[in-house]
Amino acid sequence: MNPHLQSSADSSRSSEEIRQDFLQFFQAKGHEAVPSASLVPEGDDTLLFTNAGMNQFKDVFLGTGQRPYSRAVDTQKCLRVSGKHNDLEEVGHDTYHHTFFEMLGNWSFGDYFKAEAIRWAWELLVERWGLAPERLYATVHEGDDDFGVSADAEAYDLWHAQTSLPEERILYEPSKENFWMMGDTGPCGPCSELHVDLRPPEARRETPGRELVNADHPQVMELWNLVFIQYNAHPDGSLEPLDDQHVDTGMGFERMVAVLQGEESTYDTDLFAPLLQAVADLSPRANIQGYDDLHIDDDDEREQVRIALRVVADHIRTIAFAISDGAMPSNEGRGYVIRRILRRAVRYGYQTLGLEEPFLHRLVDPLLEKMGGQFDGLTEQQEFIERAIQAEEESFLETLGTGIEFFERVVPHVTRFQKTDGEETDGLLGELQQDAQALDLLEKAYVDADDSGTVLHRFARTARGGALPGQIAFLLHDTYGFPIDLTRLMARERGLDVDMEGYETLMDRQQERARAASDFAVDQSSVHAWQPVSEGDASVFVGYDRDVVDDAEIRAVRGG
Ligand code: ALA
Repeated sequence: MNPHLQSSADSSRSSEEIRQDFLQFFQAKGHEAVPSASLVPEGDDTLLFTNAGMNQFKDVFLGTGQRPYSRAVDTQKCLRVSGKHNDLEEVGHDTYHHTFFEMLGNWSFGDYFKAEAIRWAWELLVERWGLAPERLYATVHEGDDDFGVSADAEAYDLWHAQTSLPEERILYEPSKENFWMMGDTGPCGPCSELHVDLRPPEARRETPGRELVNADHPQVMELWNLVFIQYNAHPDGSLEPLDDQHVDTGMGFERMVAVLQGEESTYDTDLFAPLLQAVADLSPRANIQGYDDLHIDDDDEREQVRIALRVVADHIRTIAFAISDGAMPSNEGRGYVIRRILRRAVRYGYQTLGLEEPFLHRLVDPLLEKMGGQFDGLTEQQEFIERAIQAEEESFLETLGTGIEFFERVVPHVTRFQKTDGEETDGLLGELQQDAQALDLLEKAYVDADDSGTVLHRFARTARGGALPGQIAFLLHDTYGFPIDLTRLMARERGLDVDMEGYETLMDRQQERARAASDFAVDQSSVHAWQPVSEGDASVFVGYDRDVVDDAEIRAVRGG
């Protein structure tokens, strides 16, 4: 029996059925079912990726756009990997955050408001899906003097009057939790959330769930956010009341599936099981047979493998969906976010799961089997998505192994210095001097140091503070393609920080050099004219009989 549901409820639904149930429930209440918008927001410079169901309706909330319906329902593809809502660090390490997730939502555009939103949320969760009401908590906004917004007593009273929630399970919470903003600006308002307590009865008796709401407990989690959009936030922080009042809701689909399937974590649901199994099957390590079939005695190592499996299963969804929506891995902007995530997944696969050959692209097939029917653009582009991922994997794998060796060679020295006081330093410097390979690598990293003595002393100074020097992080980035967040993650796994100031200084210098190189001697007043940049004979056209020249020199450049 599913412990999260009332005894009479049906707990055998697949994720596909749950998604359809949601859509149909609101369609029956007059909502238009609309397709998910792209992960790449159209015409909205304030956002890198779609991070909530309401993004595509921002114009309606602000009164600058209209739709032919006043109620809508959908499942929206979302990424929370950058900006205000960013879950990347948690992903894989806990069992319920995701970079890509589906947000089920119902909307009212100047139509119904708090009473219906609350009543229907309860009806779907408790009466339709059979969630045990004694496991549910509602939160409401406690008000905020800075915003000039008072406590949402109206929502409080509606929860009380329209549901069977007793007062001790309706909680007032501060703006950080219960005032929803899309970004620093834009439509916003107070919200009411539904949280579920999935702990077993003994644990619930011992510590009341209300103490664990919004406390990052893996079994007491938010399921659904009902936002009452009433304001437009301006860059100066002021809130301007909107002409109409709207409802914007977001339900974490993956979490809901876990609850309805009686599972403890999203990774145990039918959404992730095929992906986790596919990764385990691809791993050449014989002791990795499946997410729940690991033949590893050491607890810590087993947990590391489970984290790596979760990271890969999570990240492939992000990567494949982003590419299908046109966000190709690249060196800047949203493309760089996708590249970073892909490299993070490749590194976990390589170091923890023994996957030293490109493997991520082979997960597209099981992913599409699960999701291809729901979202446009995936199945049609399968081959393209696979090829794009494979090319990225291949290029990173060319340098990943050497980068990891470099990291592994240097880190033990950082750790040794970290644990010492000043007096032992001389001995450690001697030890480091004996390690010719490490020394050689450090000299590559400290390019601007005059001699090896300076390299050693500068290294020792940073390492004593428990940080991987910025020079090393920079070299890993510049030569081996390690995004800085990957280096930080790897350092953190060894209990170390990264000297970010040193790293940023080197990055800035590199950018300045690149800028200077691209600006040199070009007369900006006539960017379309050829500008000579070196002395010498006039050029000779040789293209009639040769298509390669070895001794060419740049004599002039043209801007524009
Ligand atoms: N826009 C709200 C959220 O993302 C529903 O949580």
